Amino acid sequence: MESKKYTLRIQRNEQNSDGSIASKWQDFTVEGLDTTTILSFLEDIKGNQDGSLTFRQSCRSAICGSCAMRIGDRTRLACKTHIGEVVDENGVVDISPQRNQPVLKDLVIDIDPFFEKIRKIRPYLTEGEDSDTHVGASAYDQVNHVTQCIMCGSCYSDCTMSEVSDEYLGPAALAKAFRFVSDPREGKKTARLKALSKDHGMWSCVRCVQCVATCPKDVKPMEAIVKLRTRGIEKGFVKGVGQRHALAFHEDINKSGDLNEFTLLTRSVGIFGSIAEMGVAFHLMQKGKIPSPFPHKAEGIQEVRAMYHELEANPLDVETKAAEVEPE
Ligand code: FES
Repeated sequence: MESKKYTLRIQRNEQNSDGSIASKWQDFTVEGLDTTTILSFLEDIKGNQDGSLTFRQSCRSAICGSCAMRIGDRTRLACKTHIGEVVDENGVVDISPQRNQPVLKDLVIDIDPFFEKIRKIRPYLTEGEDSDTHVGASAYDQVNHVTQCIMCGSCYSDCTMSEVSDEYLGPAALAKAFRFVSDPREGKKTARLKALSKDHGMWSCVRCVQCVATCPKDVKPMEAIVKLRTRGIEKGFVKGVGQRHALAFHEDINKSGDLNEFTLLTRSVGIFGSIAEMGVAFHLMQKGKIPSPFPHKAEGIQEVRAMYHELEANPLDVETKAAEVEPE
């Protein structure tokens, strides 16, 4: 494999005395192989071109999560990313700090807000009435999968909901919460689900799937969030807008195979909520997007209903795809 020249276009960030951030892009030319990691290039730049370039790194083995940053079109671990995977046709790649978190300098962000969300979900087992001393193989598998998370913050950085809401717990904290709700030894599963059903919790996820795409450890936080929602509904925590919206979908598809969008809003946010959304409704009407007030039955509705009945009689195991096996 031959050595080539690449351009790392790095966002340099500096805090002004008033706390605001001054940003500029700076190009650095580096030479290496397609398989050279971004972290190796950053170290090369720091050692040989500009010692002031600031970034985090530690393990160099995709274990500690320190080197997560925006590389190209999403957040990645610099120590795991080969330049050949991310450069454009001109050999250029953009590198900038993680999103949705305050920038301190260059590629370094303040990780406190992220870990504050983790602390919020109480990341430890608690004693209580829900605990069970038997940990089956599938429960272990479920817990173990989520504990692959290295807390790098990549999912939080690329989360579209975290971009618009500082209060949203975010995918990493919710995946962590799922780890405790799944653990048979946890004593307060129901209380956890109740807390997670409130505003800025599991029902705030918009299912953009960015967290699944970006996670360097294949944790799939969104899948954990969907499972949390299922468990919350099963426990009867159905009063929020998100839960009512999901149940309205369920009801419509079961009944007619099609959404009744005319009544969907009212069933999701209630009469007063609908009045508050009148501006949006008016805007939609201006654009000709007027839902029909007459219920519509989809073709093949009998088949849809049969599928529903089948699933109700034999629910899919949404907890884990792994089969329960007896310990040896
Ligand atoms: S340096 Fe530890 S994950 Fe990259």
